[in-house]
Amino acid sequence: MKNELVLEHINKKFDDGSLILKDINLSLQQGTKLSVLGPSGSGKTTLLRLIAGLEIQDSGSILFNGQPMENIRPHKRNFGMMFQEFALFPHMNVFDNIAFGLKMKGKDKTEIDSRVKNMLSLTGLEGFETRQINELSGGERQRVALARTLAPNPGLLMLDEPLSSLDRVLRKRLLLELTNIISRLNITTIFVTHDHKEAFAAGNMVIVMNQGGIEQKGTPEELVQNPKNSWIKEFLGV
Ligand SMILES: Nc1ncnc2c1ncn2[C@@H]1O[C@H](COP(=O)(O)OP(=O)(O)OP(=O)(O)O)[C@@H](O)[C@H]1O
Ligand SMILES: [Mg+2]
Repeated sequence: MKNELVLEHINKKFDDGSLILKDINLSLQQGTKLSVLGPSGSGKTTLLRLIAGLEIQDSGSILFNGQPMENIRPHKRNFGMMFQEFALFPHMNVFDNIAFGLKMKGKDKTEIDSRVKNMLSLTGLEGFETRQINELSGGERQRVALARTLAPNPGLLMLDEPLSSLDRVLRKRLLLELTNIISRLNITTIFVTHDHKEAFAAGNMVIVMNQGGIEQKGTPEELVQNPKNSWIKEFLGV
């Protein structure tokens, strides 16, 4: 299948020998919106870092579009990753932030201009081109970060607790904005959170992680209606 992401028997240990990820198996068709839900320390970020190529698994394989990722360096994988603090460049304006990845890829000016314009329109930021980052609200910053991540047209979008630094009210609003934009795109998205409400709102498929393993996989409805064991029940508060 085109742009399918497959994880087969992924295991990862860190130096101290504690098993971090245990036999992770996962297959995502293009366009899937997956939420990775689990308590702190359950291995969510490590899983994303492995897919991104920032860590290498001890055993198992990761395939994208049928191609093993093992020997492909992170920037060559063409995956987009958005972090908690958005990590925008404070000394660049909105246009240059969004154009950054395209410039790094050596795209010409015409292509950069047209792609940035598309991203500004997708994220509702038309007219913000020359604004400085410190002149933006939290929500606008988030949209710039999303536009920047999507500009190089990644095959996969990963978000690691993108809202966790915000207060509760803003979080709710921005989650809605974020999922609205992403749901219009046919891009496979992995959204990491420890909040089950966020996970259910952001994903049509959810994996619940516990101590480095996938405890249960299902749609939000399946998880709520059929939690597999008492740990899941308690974690989801159902
Ligand atoms: N580079 C590392 N070296 C050693 N141990 C690590 C390393 N990175 C992560 N760990 C450990 O692996 C476990 C999983 O960490 P990870 O960051 O993947 O969890 P997480 O689910 O993202 O947690 P959180 O919700 O707090 O972000 C933790 O016990 C952590 O201490
Ligand atoms: Mg984490």
